[in-house]
Amino acid sequence: MYNIKSFKIKSSPVILGIESSCDETAAAVISGRKLLSSEIISSAAEQSVYGGVVPEIASRAHTEAVDEVVTRALKSANVALSDIDAVAVTYGAGLLGALLVGLSFAKGLAYSLNIPLVAVNHIRGHLAAAYLVAEDLKPPFITLLASGGHTAVLHTLTYTDFEVLGETCDDAAGEAFDKVARVLGLAYPGGVNVERLARDGQNTVKLPSALVKNATCMQFSYSGLKTAVINAVHHAEQKGEVLNKPNIACSFQHAAIDPLVKKTVECAKSRNVSTVTAGGGVIANGYLRDALTKACQKAGLRCVLPEKRYCTDNAAMIAAEGLTQYLCGNFASLDINAAARIPLKK
Ligand code: KG4
Ligand code: ZN
Repeated sequence: MYNIKSFKIKSSPVILGIESSCDETAAAVISGRKLLSSEIISSAAEQSVYGGVVPEIASRAHTEAVDEVVTRALKSANVALSDIDAVAVTYGAGLLGALLVGLSFAKGLAYSLNIPLVAVNHIRGHLAAAYLVAEDLKPPFITLLASGGHTAVLHTLTYTDFEVLGETCDDAAGEAFDKVARVLGLAYPGGVNVERLARDGQNTVKLPSALVKNATCMQFSYSGLKTAVINAVHHAEQKGEVLNKPNIACSFQHAAIDPLVKKTVECAKSRNVSTVTAGGGVIANGYLRDALTKACQKAGLRCVLPEKRYCTDNAAMIAAEGLTQYLCGNFASLDINAAARIPLKK
């Protein structure tokens, strides 16, 4: 019988990671902290016709892709199923039907191989991606988290614990990028297209900063910024003016990202921490990466950024967080369910 209490913990396990929370079906293999492979089959092109992710299309696409993506990950890692010590899988947060495909597949594998199942919080996966870049990286450090659902500056205290130093009080940064993309008539996925358009523009449009002034604690807000962009576009349309979309994209990018960079570096200084890391889809933004790297250099801080492909959804980050949970002996039982929402700290 499958008995989670019977599993022994190895110091440098081979872990298969599986991710299916949104529109990417992904699998990756790590050995200890070393990344051996990372594969993604995306349904983004199919989704872009609808201007966003259609949950049912995502679930069906995962069902078709999950076996193939796991097979590819094992093959490119040159690892057999019998070499795997644990299966780490995203159990939330995300689209329920999409999550259930990866979770059920992972349960089946763990059961048939009689190895631990490790249930990973997707956002903790984004935070763990930095460990794949630098073998020597260890807490404490300050982490900038910016994804489609979260925007926060964290004080990462240990491998499993962090303090939230500041976060958004409304929309997440990625959500704002996606909404601005839509109002500028850019295709899904929006964030990267806003970044591309911004490259041809200049920071000339006055927009509210994403930093909330006079708040009792550090707070960001993206709802006002997003509305200001929508208003600027509508006013120009009503007046029959030709809109300089690249300038709007560039100005939005500055207003959205500059406060995140500034506050992240300030937090590192005030907490006397010498390393800064980052995670989440928005960290794939080239302007953010350059700005954060330069600000850290200026402040004498070490800046560890996951490669762009490990900032957006992938399974390498799930395997990386799986390793932390595995080493803590946090194994899931086979009746674990998927969760559409999970608090940041869980
Ligand atoms: O972390 P992620 O892949 O999924 C979540 O867990 O939320 O983040 C997706 C978000 C989307 O809102 C997307 O627009 C944004 O990350 N994003 C970007 C870029 N690439 C992805 N935002 C700005 N610039 C980018 N290059
Ligand atoms: Zn994500």
